[in-house]
Amino acid sequence: MTNSELVYLNGEMVPHAEAKISVEDRGFNFADGIYEVVRIVGGNAFRIEAHLDRFQSGARALEIELPLTRDGVREAVLGIARANRITEGTVYVQLSRGAAPRKHAFPEGARPTLVMLARPFAGPAAENLEDGVSVLTQPDLRWGYCEVKTIGLLPNVIAFQHARSEGCFEAILVRDGIVTEGSHSSTFCVRGGTVYTHPIDNLLPSITRKYAIEAFRSEGVEVREVGVPLEEYRAAEEVFLAGTTTELMPVVRIDGEVVGSGKPGELTRLGMQLYRRDLEAVRAGKAG
Ligand code: PDD
Repeated sequence: MTNSELVYLNGEMVPHAEAKISVEDRGFNFADGIYEVVRIVGGNAFRIEAHLDRFQSGARALEIELPLTRDGVREAVLGIARANRITEGTVYVQLSRGAAPRKHAFPEGARPTLVMLARPFAGPAAENLEDGVSVLTQPDLRWGYCEVKTIGLLPNVIAFQHARSEGCFEAILVRDGIVTEGSHSSTFCVRGGTVYTHPIDNLLPSITRKYAIEAFRSEGVEVREVGVPLEEYRAAEEVFLAGTTTELMPVVRIDGEVVGSGKPGELTRLGMQLYRRDLEAVRAGKAG
């Protein structure tokens, strides 16, 4: 980056230091966006049409409205390279759903954020191309860091959006037939008077989940941390969610089918009472 670098931001070329994005941009908060990296050679863009195809289809898949036409994107890519006198380089293009108060659901009326940065790039190191390189194998965890509270929440955002559009409160996530957690909460079910929740291997270590386990155990209720198949959730006596913004929340329908009696169950209500009690204790400054 140089002092004179210009950045494309929402239709304007602005000095890098003046190119500012909201702290509530969904690209920042949810990784809710897409990007392209385009190679510039001799001032031209390599395979630009293929990049435009992928960019457009990604925007369509995520239902983000591109603020420019295809021609407009192409012109901006070339324009930002030209404005920075970069004839051998790359242009990084990023489109996010835009800035809005942080909620998982797609915001209404948010203006997508489109940013482009042009950087010099002369190609990979010649000795690497000549001699070859070594690599390390790693598990493919592109969406797998569930135990980290990563901002990479796009799958959760999409799951929640589907739930919302079906008139549901939350999406519960199923991996290999086993219920893991919610899009932004933890999940529990009750069978035979025992409370079940998924263990926290490859799962967000939810604070409220931990709270609920301890609270139930302190009341002599058995809690088991094991994976439970979706079918058993459907047949459970009770199901509830837990989370900082969800508290302990009874679930009475899954995919339109009634759970248990169709009313918040006994153990769920016990958990809710304990939570309320302990919330009030903190409110009164008696605990943390
Ligand atoms: N979400 N699982 C996921 C995937 C979550 O995003 C959350 C919290 C939870 C519950 O964790 P806790 O009890 O620590 O709040 C479980 C927050 C509230 C959010 O994204 O808004």
